[in-house]
Amino acid sequence: MPKGSVEKKIHSLREQIHKHDYAYYVEDRPTISDYEYDQLYKELEELEAKHPDLVTPDSPTQRVSGKPADKFHKKEHRIAMLSLQNSFDTEDIYTFDERVKKFLATDEEIEYYCELKLDGLAIELVYEDSQLVAAITRGDGITGEDVTQNVKTIKAIPLRLKENIPLLEVRGEIVMRKQDFLALNEWQSEKGLNEFANPRNAAAGSIRQLDPSITARRNLIFYAYGVGLSENISIQQHSELYELFRKLQIPEIANKYNQICKGPAKVEEYYKWIESIRHDLQFDIDGIVVKVNSIDLQNELGFVARNPRWATAVKFTPERSETTIQDIVVQVGRTGALTPVAVMEPVDVGGVTVTHATLHNQDEIDRKDIRIGDRVVVHRAGDVIPEVVEVLIKKRPKKTEAFQIPKQCPICQTETIKEEEEVKSRCPNPLCEARIKEGLKHFASRRAMNIDKLGDKWIDTFVDKDLVHTFSDIYKIKKSDLLALERMGEKSAQNLLDSIQQSKNVDLANFIFALGIRFVGEQTAKNLAQKFQSLEMFLGASEEDLLEVEDIGPKLVRSILQTISSKNFRQEIEELLRVGIEIKKPEIASSELAGKTFVITGTLPEERGKIKKQIESRGGKVSSSISKKTHYLLAGENAGSKLDKAKELNISILSWEDFLKM
Ligand code: IVH
Repeated sequence: MPKGSVEKKIHSLREQIHKHDYAYYVEDRPTISDYEYDQLYKELEELEAKHPDLVTPDSPTQRVSGKPADKFHKKEHRIAMLSLQNSFDTEDIYTFDERVKKFLATDEEIEYYCELKLDGLAIELVYEDSQLVAAITRGDGITGEDVTQNVKTIKAIPLRLKENIPLLEVRGEIVMRKQDFLALNEWQSEKGLNEFANPRNAAAGSIRQLDPSITARRNLIFYAYGVGLSENISIQQHSELYELFRKLQIPEIANKYNQICKGPAKVEEYYKWIESIRHDLQFDIDGIVVKVNSIDLQNELGFVARNPRWATAVKFTPERSETTIQDIVVQVGRTGALTPVAVMEPVDVGGVTVTHATLHNQDEIDRKDIRIGDRVVVHRAGDVIPEVVEVLIKKRPKKTEAFQIPKQCPICQTETIKEEEEVKSRCPNPLCEARIKEGLKHFASRRAMNIDKLGDKWIDTFVDKDLVHTFSDIYKIKKSDLLALERMGEKSAQNLLDSIQQSKNVDLANFIFALGIRFVGEQTAKNLAQKFQSLEMFLGASEEDLLEVEDIGPKLVRSILQTISSKNFRQEIEELLRVGIEIKKPEIASSELAGKTFVITGTLPEERGKIKKQIESRGGKVSSSISKKTHYLLAGENAGSKLDKAKELNISILSWEDFLKM
């Protein structure tokens, strides 16, 4: 190819990738299948490898580049990043309004621009000649840390602006979605690493990784809410800033949740609305921010100390409650990890009754000095996980003792071990009853073998009754065994057997995940299946083969090799195949439904999870709520409000039959 056409081709690939990134990460409206996207990306990588002189810093291939840093360098903000005055009381909206009016010497109603107070990490993106040249944390407001390499890995952040702008500093918040936070913690715990207390800490921890490839895996998102220094930008109203962001393809969420409110009463209504929907949001917010909309008035109002006079934050009352720790029990997980859990007097935290809270590990117990009998404050971290925030030492009863996780496994009494780099101690006995039970629960779980009628309670019973010890034992259960159990009728026994039978036909990735090999999570299992394509190939993998798999390091390789070379493991696999497990070859995703978003509602003949898989394997996407971006509503029987909303928005409605034809 002549140089000119290579350049053109590279340019076109970058444009296409950027367009798809924007559709996927900002608009939540994928336009092609993952497979097709990967092909574009590969083609670009190959061309750039052949023509290194054509690699530019704004190429999508440069999002994750460079070696891990040894530390972050300090960098000054050209204009200080100030903070907002905070309050917890809606009364203060009125006080704020009075102060603004008094300062401006006016009686007229002020137009306020109201927005979400995102609970993440403030960041400044510096664009020079439309190129992203730096990303700096807020730090102390004057000087922050240069985290450019890490911020570039966030795909929603443009590396180059859509229009020519000599200088623009964009300010906003980096946040982690609640679902990604939960998944990250699951992964951390699987790997024996420290879990994050809430999505904000997880977002901040992810940005402060010295190795950008780790940040890249964390699914962070960014929303803009302000600007620092700029050239050639003139806006009269804060609201216009969001129009500018949209034009430049800088992510923001203004059109969904922001509102112009005239006068404090409207602001109070806005506050109440946002407070009522905060739990439905995908990310944490801790209040609202109220800004005077007119930029002229903002300039007139100016600053007092380190806060603008033209803006204020009204926070939500934190959902905290006081209760007593009645006991601390130690749970043993599938890998043998010991986790202390506080059993508490039931207490309401923001509308949810909380009885248990994980205490994570010994270090955490020591740090907070949590003891049985203590009065404690609990909240729900990231709206989901109950957590002990602090001990009320003054209320501590007499004669309590510091809590120590036992040195023996609480289930099988084997001496526990603690590896140096790990935070939890572990029971090393593979035959420990707790480990067997948890391993079986993992095996049967939805994302593994998906034996949906085999709930945790039944697994406990089967092990207690000596019916099941190994994975393959599940497939040897007879109806007469089941009928001999208490609370098991003819119909549930049959349903359970059917569900076990159905699980025999399984995707390679799900099967590998089900085996519960240490450190092999769902994504790693998928990568392994993609690479090896069959169980035989996987079981025959060498160290070199394994190291070629995406995202696999030496620790994982060691764990996999150790497992697949073990005689017991081999025997168990043979037994599973003998009882009739059939492994499907991984499919290369087709793309008939690329870019189409579905919402599913009502009762349908198939399970939701299966329908979702079918849609996704054809390149489509399933979302939980209807919006203008939805393409189809698949409506079963007794469809409710979603059906009304779809009609209202003129969205195509599919019956089960229409869907099957599709
Ligand atoms: S505006 C001069 N808008 O709150 C005012 N801040 O205490 C600049 N924050 O450090 C801030 N959401 O991290 C603004 N919609 C929003 C915000 C927001 C969250 C955070 C930001 C800042 C802190 C201010």
